[in-house]
Amino acid sequence: MVRNLSGSYVSWVASTLYLVALSVFSVEEISAQTVRFASDRSTENVTFTKDVMPILQENCASCHREGSIAPIHLETYEQARRYSRRIRDKVVTREMPPFHLDTDVGIQEIKGDWRLSEDEIKTIATWVDNGSPEGDIADMPPPMEWSDELIWQLEENLGPPDHVIKSKPFDVPAEGGDTWWRPIVGTGMDQDRYVKAFETRPSRQGREVVHHAIPRLQVLQENGEYLRTASLSEYAMGKIGEILPLDAARLLPKDSRIEWDAHYYPMGYDVEDDQVELGIWFHPDGFEPEFIQDLRLYPLQGDIALAPGGTAMTQGFFRWDHPVRIDSFQPHGHVQLHAKSLEVIYPDGKRELLSMVTNFNAKWHHSYIYEDDVAPMLPEGSVLVVTAWYDNTADNPLNPDPEVWKARGSRTVDEMSHAWLAVTHLNQEGFERIVSEREAKKEAVTAAQESGIRH
Ligand code: HEC
Repeated sequence: MVRNLSGSYVSWVASTLYLVALSVFSVEEISAQTVRFASDRSTENVTFTKDVMPILQENCASCHREGSIAPIHLETYEQARRYSRRIRDKVVTREMPPFHLDTDVGIQEIKGDWRLSEDEIKTIATWVDNGSPEGDIADMPPPMEWSDELIWQLEENLGPPDHVIKSKPFDVPAEGGDTWWRPIVGTGMDQDRYVKAFETRPSRQGREVVHHAIPRLQVLQENGEYLRTASLSEYAMGKIGEILPLDAARLLPKDSRIEWDAHYYPMGYDVEDDQVELGIWFHPDGFEPEFIQDLRLYPLQGDIALAPGGTAMTQGFFRWDHPVRIDSFQPHGHVQLHAKSLEVIYPDGKRELLSMVTNFNAKWHHSYIYEDDVAPMLPEGSVLVVTAWYDNTADNPLNPDPEVWKARGSRTVDEMSHAWLAVTHLNQEGFERIVSEREAKKEAVTAAQESGIRH
């Protein structure tokens, strides 16, 4: 069995156009991005009520509270003291809050960035190292108020969605392996509309069993058949919706359908009639966007085969025949994926690392959406390089079985690796205009700063 697998793998590799380098990089060489925070013991008087609780309320409690998704609650001093070592550990390694973009390389201006600041991490580490003192009760901030209603995260900014499309109901068993639910439902659209934002969400009961869910668009062709075109927005635990940049829109054509791809993961109890929903916010009727954006899966990894106890690296390339702007990056993989980077080789040969996630954790699928003024601009002829590193050793804490071969596949126990990218497709004129607008903005900021210094 093992021999067959490795034998056929060799022929896959031979026939693939992708460069697949096995064990070229050992995982140790790109060692975990651990922030080595010596706690600052000289900072006396760090207390729970004054310093730590505000950080937990702001950054942790939305998940770490009664009725939300995290296993431990961090709403009182007693709870936080009980888990203080684990809290220190998780924040110092930047595993929590779950936002795993590397802080030391690549573009750091990301929408909805909820990483802790170094000061906040230091405060927590110091508090734990000082024995987790409570402090003065009078300093305790008032408790947060939560609503357990099912909400659209984008509603706060955009109001309720203009249109909602639901998957068909599905019963998730208490026990068993992963299951996929792929019903096809009509969009209910009787005219073409341009979309400015999407959000995919699980139901209230589905929050703990929906591993991820993707609404894929199927467009009606002239011959009466449906063609799958693009994905609209992927939900994975912890991810919020997507608001498109102002100069770009995605098209939702009339008579289209949604092919749902919902991946459920049984959690020990029955969940009945679960439905995943896609909320859509439209541009006004008749709106014509300047550019079209799409969100696609770029299968850049070549084939994957991981020997028992082994590590591997794969690399894939992609080139567009027109200039583009990359608006978001979402690495995807399963339990063996350790790290993934997104790089570009510009036509002049210059190479730039755009983003990297070391310590990838398959439980958290984030789409890192670049701030509008820094979203990478790729002139025609640029080559995108996606590199993935895998760890099938016993040192990988998420690895269920380091003794067996792992191959590419779609079950949670198989490996998978690709990138989801939201890309705005530009023309040469648009490309040059966006670049010069950004430069003008930068110059204006610099000029303002200089005049500030002179006055
Ligand atoms: C978006 C939701 C979310 C946010 C925000 C979040 N966590 Fe978590 N946390 C989880 C979930 C879910 C787990 C369970 C493990 C996993 O899924 O990664 C977890 C696990 C943990 C654990 C390990 C618990 C155990 O059982 O050992 C600690 C400690 C922790 N989080 C602390 C924090 C702290 C401190 C913050 C804020 C600075 C925070 N988390 C922010 C969702 C969250």
